[in-house]
Amino acid sequence: MKILFIGDIVGSPGRNAFAEYIPKLKRKYRPDLTIVNGENAAGGKGITEKIYRSLQQQGADVITLGNHTWDKREIFDFIDNADHFIRPANFPDECPGVGMTEWKQGSQSVVVISLQGRTFMQAIDCPFKKADELVAKAKKLSPYIFVDFHAEATSEKQAMGWYLDGRVSAVVGTHTHVPTADERVLPGGTAYLTDAGMTGPYDSILGVEKEAVINKFITSLPAKFEVATGREQINGALIQLNKKTGAAESIKRVQINEDRPFFD
Ligand SMILES: [Fe+2]
Ligand SMILES: [Fe+2]
Repeated sequence: MKILFIGDIVGSPGRNAFAEYIPKLKRKYRPDLTIVNGENAAGGKGITEKIYRSLQQQGADVITLGNHTWDKREIFDFIDNADHFIRPANFPDECPGVGMTEWKQGSQSVVVISLQGRTFMQAIDCPFKKADELVAKAKKLSPYIFVDFHAEATSEKQAMGWYLDGRVSAVVGTHTHVPTADERVLPGGTAYLTDAGMTGPYDSILGVEKEAVINKFITSLPAKFEVATGREQINGALIQLNKKTGAAESIKRVQINEDRPFFD
């Protein structure tokens, strides 16, 4: 089982980069399943139904979300009817949507779980206890369990990786929009990467127009952040899982930008 994960799609530059490179990445790596974080796909904040559908049509089998889940109000109209579209599972139970989905194709099945951290983020339910609850359910469905852990603190992400080592196939972090270089298979067989990075404008600050962010740091005045334009990048990871055990055999970063060009 080979899984391609693509980090947070940011605005139209992210969607353009995804549309351009996903066919090439699929030809090159032949993933069985493609998972995409779409929390910033609509103008950097949230996602619309139209974008959700077009990402799926272009080859995103499962779409995960994060702290920007509710930013576009129309999500309340479609999240409960959208397949393979998950928001962090440890949001309060009263929230619409679900945080775990089983993707199936032929005899193959992968359970994908979305969780969100709490350090330097909003106060939500415990992601570790929610992970215990969902992993127990997921184990009954498939040997392959993929976790997108949407969190700010590297320590909380590493803690989740080690906490779930040997119990899930992969823990891949999202949210910081900056890829980390610590991809590895932990001793228990869980593929781990602190952050996959984002897919969107390359000459930007976390996807945002850099002048506005620099100005905010200098002046501390309120500022309006717009998605940057110009050159694009794709960030993600490719994970190979063992057919019998579901454990990870390898994890590789996927990074495409003008300094790291794509080769067929
Ligand atoms: Fe994000
Ligand atoms: Fe986020």
